[in-house]
Amino acid sequence: MSACSDAIARRFGDGGPSGEGADDNDLIHRVLSRKTVRRYSDRVPVEALLDLLVACALSASAKSDFQQASILRVRDSGKRAAIGKLFPAMPWIGIAPVFFVFLGDARRLQCIGEMRGKPVENGTLEGFFNASIDAALAMQTMILCAESAGLGVCPISVIRNEVDKVAAVLGLPDLVFPVAALCLGYPQGEGHVSLRLPRSVTAHSDRYDDSALHAGIDDYDHRRHALHAIPKEQQRSNAEYGETAFYGWSEDKARQAAKAEGAAFPPYLRAHGFSFE
Ligand SMILES: Cc1cc2nc3c(=O)[nH]c(=O)nc-3n(C[C@H](O)[C@H](O)[C@H](O)COP(=O)(O)O)c2cc1C
Repeated sequence: MSACSDAIARRFGDGGPSGEGADDNDLIHRVLSRKTVRRYSDRVPVEALLDLLVACALSASAKSDFQQASILRVRDSGKRAAIGKLFPAMPWIGIAPVFFVFLGDARRLQCIGEMRGKPVENGTLEGFFNASIDAALAMQTMILCAESAGLGVCPISVIRNEVDKVAAVLGLPDLVFPVAALCLGYPQGEGHVSLRLPRSVTAHSDRYDDSALHAGIDDYDHRRHALHAIPKEQQRSNAEYGETAFYGWSEDKARQAAKAEGAAFPPYLRAHGFSFE
């Protein structure tokens, strides 16, 4: 087995394609083995590395070359604390050594239209979507580069649940919105590679086909449970749904998704320049 096929087996454990025969490659191996990190040592990444990471993030592909991602680093300790205080269940938000916010920036193109006397209307669904994707790609590019430099990261989309307060702290103007933040630092502890859904469920060939969904999810639940069972005290909404004999990933995600998140986001966007037309 090559290092990559080993890593694929650890990531999926689904008996699917193993990449056997392809040349091993450091980056691919690292991506297959990556994991989110929420606990960091006190060591602070040097500024030159952070500058590099921002440059890498802004090198990501951008829809139509419109370049609608912006990156805001929160350095001010008062602002960090103010944001951290909003999410007590996620203490890493307030204490990670470095905290970036990835912004969808539909404002810049709108301003460029005004500068050049053209009728740009960028508060559309298309404008919102393009800016969101640019920001997400920039964040993921930073993630992979940061991890390749030995750092650990955790994306933070929960900030959108308190978008009014976060936007006020960061001084965000109309048409600029947070896609997610990113906690970053040197990892403390090992963590584990999170098993992904079987590719029979998530990878399609020529035609969308989810006929293997039920069996694939049941099988995944049990394989994942055997590796990293969700502890009893982390089961959600037991008051509503009761304790189940077997509590797997799909039970957990169904319970999580049944409580809609992000109610504050659409009204915020509508009040800050997006018509979505
Ligand atoms: C867009 C996005 C938003 C996320 N938001 C949060 C968050 O608010 N808080 C958090 O602790 N983790 C957050 N995560 C991390 C995910 O929970 C994590 O990626 C997922 O559990 C899979 O784990 P892995 O990355 O180690 O494979 C987010 C990840 C993504 C991609």
